[in-house]
Amino acid sequence: MDKVIPQSLRSPVAKTLCITSVLDFWIPASVDLIEPGKRVDFRAESHVSYDVQALLQQSEIPYEVMIDDLQDALEKQRDSNIRAAHSYEKYNDFDTISAWSANIAAQNPGLVSRTQIGSSYEGRPLYLLKVGKSGTNKKAVFIDCGFHAREWISPAFCQWFVKEAVNSYGSDSQFTNLLNNLDFYILPIVNVDGYVYTWTNNRMWRKTRSANKNSSCIGTDPNRNFDAGWCTVGASSRVCDDTYCGSAPESEKETKALANFIRANRSSIKGYLTIHSYSQMLLFPYSYTYNKATDHTELNNVAKAAVSSLTSLYGTKYTYGPGGTTIYLAAGGSDDWAYDVGVKYSFTFELRDTGRYGFALPESQIKPTCEETMLAVKHIANHIMNNA
Ligand code: ARG
Ligand code: ZN
Repeated sequence: MDKVIPQSLRSPVAKTLCITSVLDFWIPASVDLIEPGKRVDFRAESHVSYDVQALLQQSEIPYEVMIDDLQDALEKQRDSNIRAAHSYEKYNDFDTISAWSANIAAQNPGLVSRTQIGSSYEGRPLYLLKVGKSGTNKKAVFIDCGFHAREWISPAFCQWFVKEAVNSYGSDSQFTNLLNNLDFYILPIVNVDGYVYTWTNNRMWRKTRSANKNSSCIGTDPNRNFDAGWCTVGASSRVCDDTYCGSAPESEKETKALANFIRANRSSIKGYLTIHSYSQMLLFPYSYTYNKATDHTELNNVAKAAVSSLTSLYGTKYTYGPGGTTIYLAAGGSDDWAYDVGVKYSFTFELRDTGRYGFALPESQIKPTCEETMLAVKHIANHIMNNA
């Protein structure tokens, strides 16, 4: 399987390619989001791989094969196929993460507690961890992972964050200070059904797993399903597409549960961080319009400093800016929705890498990715603690 990267792409050609060979778009997530002059990553089935390359050559579109054999890359992504105990440096399955969340709460009473904020379409629990020392009138930061099922590094980060909090409390003065003054709500996997599906059926699944009326195509893109310019731009109204916006805002049980929780805690929640991959970007509103957010200057400054802290550890380069101009216009995202309901410090992270492995990021990169991301998250949290 190949991932082909034209540096410039004439969209009629891209559309032809999409129709003739049903490509799986990685970056951007759908053919409609392709913009002239921007790079495109996609996966092609091996039986069309040579035809796709011939078409690109005929069209004089420069390209590069990033992953020659995706099956092989995925087999190497995990160090071993044996279902092991929980590990922060491995990709853990849904059951392992659920058991981990119960254990870490049980082992750290007074610092971590677990609640259930809802259930998924297929009936799985949506567990939420609250991390922080108890206090009165605390401000809170909400962090979610696992919106898109195939972005496995994302849930790994949420687990890492909780581990760091637990290990740092009482020993690291900066993190201790954060935990004394802020509560962190951590939702380790939003799209639990999709995540399970990537472990059992299709590693490249993105959407939820809900049924659609009058169609055999399954699922909605949870990050197109929020009430923020819903389904106006950069989202699809075709049920079979990977960026399908759903039948209505919050049509998905998972997005509804998340939105209900934030609405119910709107007065305390000052920050909203949603963790995706890949592209190495730190984005803030807006993505449903090119208009600048009211707090654009402050958010830009926070993003700039957060990114510079992240880069200082291993030199990983990030870009940052409003979603619309930095990646693409795409309405219905949770970051824009949270911002518009009053959560001023609203950011989307796109973690490693920039396409060498893409969604098949090897387990050996979990630790460095999480370590550097912690620096950016702590910077944002500090800013919230001091300014919100
Ligand atoms: N890659 C993410 C997505 O397509 C980017 C999200 C940026 N925010 C947004 N509201 N579109 O969902
Ligand atoms: Zn994503």
